[in-house]
Amino acid sequence: VIDISKLYGQADVFTFDPGFTSTAACESSITFIDGDKGELLHRGYPIDQLAAKSHYLEVCYLLLYGELPTAAQLEDFTSRVTNHTMLHEQMLNFYRGFRRDAHPMAIVCGVVGAMSAFYHDSTDIHDPWQREVASIRMIAKLPTITANAYKYSIGQPFVYPDNNLDYASNFLRMCFAVPAEEYVVDPILARAMDRIFMLHADHEQNASTSTVRLAGSSGANPFACIAAGVACLWGPAHGGANEAALNMLREIGSVDRIPEYIAKAKDKADPFRLMGFGHRVYKNFDPRAKVMKESADEVLGLLGVENNPTLQVAKELEKIALEDEYFVSKKLYPNVDFYSGIILDAIGFPTSMFTPIFALSRTVGWIAQWKEMIEDEKQKIGRPRQLYTGAGFRDYADVENR
Ligand code: ACO
Repeated sequence: VIDISKLYGQADVFTFDPGFTSTAACESSITFIDGDKGELLHRGYPIDQLAAKSHYLEVCYLLLYGELPTAAQLEDFTSRVTNHTMLHEQMLNFYRGFRRDAHPMAIVCGVVGAMSAFYHDSTDIHDPWQREVASIRMIAKLPTITANAYKYSIGQPFVYPDNNLDYASNFLRMCFAVPAEEYVVDPILARAMDRIFMLHADHEQNASTSTVRLAGSSGANPFACIAAGVACLWGPAHGGANEAALNMLREIGSVDRIPEYIAKAKDKADPFRLMGFGHRVYKNFDPRAKVMKESADEVLGLLGVENNPTLQVAKELEKIALEDEYFVSKKLYPNVDFYSGIILDAIGFPTSMFTPIFALSRTVGWIAQWKEMIEDEKQKIGRPRQLYTGAGFRDYADVENR
């Protein structure tokens, strides 16, 4: 019998909380979630009001600096971001080292990490000016990095940023424009893209944000920390869920096969889960999912794909799950990823681009949280404890005596 109080007695209280379901690792004034009410506030402003009235760069400003910008502050911030959209030309060579069939998420993770090898003047975490420049650089360059990962994967030349365009339109152009052909960004698609960015901008201490904070707590440079966040986001239980959700809808294929998949999801012997359903914090409708659902209807209306079989499966699955005793009793509602994949598919992105787009959107949240942590005087290196379950003390045995 292990006497835990003797082993772990250094702290007044020792908690064993796998998955951190009830342990706060930090104080934060950026984002508030009430999971039971289905409420998400950034610096106090509800996400549905921001989604209806604001836009991504304004939300970036809000997350980073704590207040909505005045017109002059917004103009200055937008111009600073716009001035940093280009990548160092040598970074383009870095892409060419990857296999063409590499997952774009692997490329984004690598290129973001490599930024610390190119922008030495913004890696000193103790210098507020360098922290600021690193933040602006990442918000500005992530669309270019992500679009380039896509272009590389389909064998097309990179499209350089057009700084006359807004943030979302510029990203769409870098992904879909082809040299020598005119490309005009549809404002409805640009608005839908901007909403996807906004709705993913921050979500307090989720797995990837906690990863960024943990990496940052050791004093690692900001680019390395954000690369760690990208890597964590990739998993199908987190940012990879939008890709997994659309793949699942396609695999189901037709409405008549839905009961088979619902039964699989309920079967405890089967590891299958309905992707895009459930959330650690929301035990009510994810407020982002509500906005995303409206956006999906708008985009699909524009593109005239209401009769798309994937969408029909999605709508029917949502209806069945919302009435099914298993999902109702466990409070498993569709989450933001359930709808974002449908919109991204309709815009023309392959599923492999869904998680990189989530990473680009979440970059501002990671940076805001990283900055908040660095500027917090109570900040310490993150060092979770463990409950040891292995062998007790034993003497080493020479190989011939084992
Ligand atoms: N399908 C079927 N059953 C589910 C699902 C699902 N999608 N999600 C949870 N459950 C069940 C579990 O089997 C468990 O059942 P039990 O109590 O009988 O054992 C119960 O609901 C609670 O599930 P947990 O895994 O304990 O809940 P947790 O809070 O740890 O997980 C998570 C949340 C990871 C999001 C989970 O719901 C899931 O895997 N969903 C599918 C993946 C997904 O959509 N992820 C996106 C999250 S949102 C984001 O990252 C932006």
